[in-house]
Amino acid sequence: MRVAVICAMSRNGVIGKDNGLPWNLPGDLKHFKETTLGCPIIMGRKTWDSIGRPLPGRTNIIVTRRGEIESDGIKIADSFESALDLAKSCLATARGNEIFVIGGAQIYKEAFPLANRLYLTRVNSFVDGDTYLEGFDEADWIEISNKSFKALSSEGHDYNICVLDRR
Ligand SMILES: NC(=O)c1ccc[n+]([C@@H]2O[C@H](COP(=O)([O-])OP(=O)(O)OC[C@H]3O[C@@H](n4cnc5c(N)ncnc54)[C@H](OP(=O)(O)O)[C@@H]3O)[C@@H](O)[C@H]2O)c1
Repeated sequence: MRVAVICAMSRNGVIGKDNGLPWNLPGDLKHFKETTLGCPIIMGRKTWDSIGRPLPGRTNIIVTRRGEIESDGIKIADSFESALDLAKSCLATARGNEIFVIGGAQIYKEAFPLANRLYLTRVNSFVDGDTYLEGFDEADWIEISNKSFKALSSEGHDYNICVLDRR
């Protein structure tokens, strides 16, 4: 089993703004979909709020202490550990052997000590935001692939899609 973090981060460590993404990168969203499809995904309640619907073709697991969320097609966990247990129980019917932690900052911070794969989109700009990636130490990781993408006119940022494994 692999616990993977999937994240997009600017050069100054920003991952979010006003409970949304501070960029519009359709190419990265396509990569996100292709990478996570068929697998369990774990997200924090604020990220759930920002997405606003279950992502299709994946078991959506929402971490919250409130127990107030109701929606068809999702599972609720009251801690990151119970979210992981739920995700593991879904692996039998999943596409592969991989659990994805899809954010946001609070959940990434809890996931990093356990993660052994990082799908990191490096947004090659300094971006204004209010949420920063925490718990990521580049020295703990070795980059195994790195593909460059030039900004489409609608995107505004060049970016690199990287895969890193824990050293
Ligand atoms: N760039 C990227 O790749 C990326 C990916 C995902 C999200 N984001 C961005 O990140 C931002 C959101 O991140 P965030 O850090 O503010 O919020 P978050 O991590 O998405 O969610 C935080 C919430 O998760 C719940 N939670 C966290 N730890 C918990 C625990 N141990 N046990 C139970 N519940 C727990 C709490 O929910 P309750 O308050 O309900 O108890 C908490 O308020 C947004 O701007 C979003 O767009 C960026």
